Amino acid sequence: MQAYSLIDRYNRRLNYLRLSITDRCNLRCIYCMPKGLIPKLPHEEILTYEEILRLVRINVSLGISKVRVTGGEPLVRKGVFDFLKELSTIEGISDISITTNGVYLKDHVHRIYDAGIRRINISLDTLNPLKYLKITGQDKFHRVWGGIQAVKEIGFKPIKLNVVALRAVNDDELIDMAKLSFENPFHIRFIEHMPVGTPGASAEHSLLTPEIKAQICSLGELVPVKNAINDGPAERYKFKGAQGEIGFISALSRHFCHTCNRLRITASGQLRTCLLSDDQFDLKGPLRKGCTDTELANMILKTVCRKPSGHHLFCSESAPVSSHMSSIGG
Ligand code: 5AD
Ligand code: SF4
Repeated sequence: MQAYSLIDRYNRRLNYLRLSITDRCNLRCIYCMPKGLIPKLPHEEILTYEEILRLVRINVSLGISKVRVTGGEPLVRKGVFDFLKELSTIEGISDISITTNGVYLKDHVHRIYDAGIRRINISLDTLNPLKYLKITGQDKFHRVWGGIQAVKEIGFKPIKLNVVALRAVNDDELIDMAKLSFENPFHIRFIEHMPVGTPGASAEHSLLTPEIKAQICSLGELVPVKNAINDGPAERYKFKGAQGEIGFISALSRHFCHTCNRLRITASGQLRTCLLSDDQFDLKGPLRKGCTDTELANMILKTVCRKPSGHHLFCSESAPVSSHMSSIGG
């Protein structure tokens, strides 16, 4: 197989694979999977670790060099630490990271570190324990905060805190969240809410980056940080003298589709070329029917050709994305 074959019709080179290893989660964030709304996939529908690793190897042979493990909540899946260890032995991956809600971090941070993972994203939308309960359905703020301290102590780098900005939910805390970047090496990343699935947060909660920037500017000048080559869509900044950074992920207010370098594989083995489209290709079926690596590679290449130029969230005729974030992995 030829390296660097993952180039789409718009000349975007896809080198970043997001792997959802489970659709299950121990939280019920209002913008993602509000209570009781999402049926869980039966176990046999979920790819085994062996199947995932095989697909990763094939993708790496095609040019993927950066892998992020997501969920649902990846740390709820049995055997995840051994899986991470195995993943980090795959040659050709220069960057492995994990996105977690942080609930299990405090107890397992060493196991993640020992598996060779150094980059971590933790979801944290509020610093208020009561509000954390309201947003996630679980009284776990202190546990998550303890986990964040643990990753800081052990030396993960970077430590990114994902904040989905929601009007009338956490808009009174954006400044406090941004302030964390002064005394901590955290990258605070404000994420515009995306209309994916059928969650309990809707258009009236929408809060866009320009407004967030205007609020947190009261803390000082936001100095732009140059994006590294492998960086995602975040616009990076730093307050003068701060240890950490501020990032903005503006899927709505600032199109970044033209630079999108991502592919996604869902927990049930669906290959997705765009988070904000329901289009997907089933890899699990062919995988279980005994297709060879070359056949699977060809299917991946064909699917990549279907990657849309951009999302259509602003076109009234296009349907909103109905798949759930918890099964795609954000
Ligand atoms: N819009 C924006 N971000 C979301 N996330 C989950 N659902 C949404 C949504 N609808 C974020 C979570 C998590 C990451 C995986 O995706 O905060 O940090
Ligand atoms: Fe779970 Fe993450 Fe979805 Fe919250 S956003 S319910 S933590 S998968």
